[in-house]
Amino acid sequence: TGKYDFVFVEMQMIHWPDNMLTYCPQLKTVFSNDAFGQHIVNFNLTDEGLDKAYCLKQAKEYFANIVLPYTTPVQAKLNLILGMNLDIEYIMPAHGIIWKDYIADIIETYKGIAAQKVENKAVIVYESVWKHTQQIAESLAEGFSDAGMDVKVYKLSDTKSSIVMREIMDAKVVCIGSGTYNNVMAPSVAAFLEHIRPCKFKNKKGLAFAAYGWFNQVAKEIDTRMQQSGIESCHDVINQCYTPSDDQLEDYFNVAKEIAKNCQE
Ligand SMILES: Cc1cc2nc3c(=O)[nH]c(=O)nc-3n(C[C@H](O)[C@H](O)[C@H](O)COP(=O)(O)O)c2cc1C
Repeated sequence: TGKYDFVFVEMQMIHWPDNMLTYCPQLKTVFSNDAFGQHIVNFNLTDEGLDKAYCLKQAKEYFANIVLPYTTPVQAKLNLILGMNLDIEYIMPAHGIIWKDYIADIIETYKGIAAQKVENKAVIVYESVWKHTQQIAESLAEGFSDAGMDVKVYKLSDTKSSIVMREIMDAKVVCIGSGTYNNVMAPSVAAFLEHIRPCKFKNKKGLAFAAYGWFNQVAKEIDTRMQQSGIESCHDVINQCYTPSDDQLEDYFNVAKEIAKNCQE
């Protein structure tokens, strides 16, 4: 433009068709559009003085809820941009604070997300009216924890889906369960499965579970829909008729331990 040069990198579908990254060498600034965004609002325009873990967590939450279905193009573009060896002092995304102090950290975080790197972590999500499904969820959680895994348990009607999406992103194991109501799963579980369907996860193992009274097809249906989102089943579904007995809860504890063990191998 005279004073400034601009380098453009097209970034279609991260996460809109017309997105583009712009780099200005004189300002050592990347205008990254949706990439590296978060929903942090601060008087300081940059990340200076903010807690690093907080900033990265917010960026992960943004990615999980906005960009996750486009992880494959993110990986390709990230490699391309890193290969350009740009001298960067500021990353200015379209949303949230400007990255200044934590540039290396946010890039490292994006590398992990783009590679769909998973942690030794199980996320269990469920819906339950009379607590039978909840009891299964809790026994599974105890089993994963006993096997040394980090575990998060979320009842969908009590939790913002943005938090579940953030936590699921780096989980190695995902368990989804529901009670059976009028022969279908709870609407919150159906909505959640629809939410993750475009994500096309990699590196995730799954287990579906359900409590029922007289129609035992809901766990199978959850399992089918989990697979559509890329979560690979790693165990037969759990079908619990009404209240689980102590022995059945112990079985579920052991199922989780077995899954945890198989995932280490
Ligand atoms: C409103 C309502 C509707 C139900 N409808 C069915 C049904 O259509 N088919 C079935 O197998 N069980 C049905 N049940 C039984 C529940 O699936 C069963 O009690 C299950 O253990 C509930 O799980 P929860 O305790 O996690 O809510 C229904 C229960 C409720 C409360």
